[in-house]
Amino acid sequence: MPDKMGDAPRLEKAHSPKVSWDQGEALQIIAQCASLKGGLMEALHGLQHAFGYIPAESYALLAEGFNLSEAEVYGVKSFYHDFTSAPKGRHVIQICQAEACQSRGSRALTKHVQNQLGITLGQTSPDGHFTLEAVYCLGNCAVSPNITLDGKLYGRVSADHMDHLLKKVAL
Ligand code: FES
Repeated sequence: MPDKMGDAPRLEKAHSPKVSWDQGEALQIIAQCASLKGGLMEALHGLQHAFGYIPAESYALLAEGFNLSEAEVYGVKSFYHDFTSAPKGRHVIQICQAEACQSRGSRALTKHVQNQLGITLGQTSPDGHFTLEAVYCLGNCAVSPNITLDGKLYGRVSADHMDHLLKKVAL
């Protein structure tokens, strides 16, 4: 479901990202996508999948591969929340901040989670365990407030339910 900034299509998680920069692998990904229609998006997906984020070192390579400026590459990358500038945590929590969920307590739920994890929206915990993100409508408004945890959707989430979910993945 698209959010207000536009969601990039979900990535398949076939393996864990390597995180450390590997120019050879980045060049290989870009070369595989260079002649494709929509190749820049494909390359960004490939890099995000391979490294867990879009390394800053890749902007110049993408710009050269797609005959664009680095600013243009950055502009495309920045438009999509799924393309991140730093590795995400092992578990990603998204809390809906759109109207229906707000009217049923998503702001209080967000504060609760922020207090529990010691991070704010858009941050990753220092131990790399959790990333907390805002989303704007998950298409499940009838059972607000909604969250996702590692891509799985949960509706009517209370603080207690959230604590239970966090405890399950904190192990
Ligand atoms: S407003 Fe939250 S799911 Fe629609």
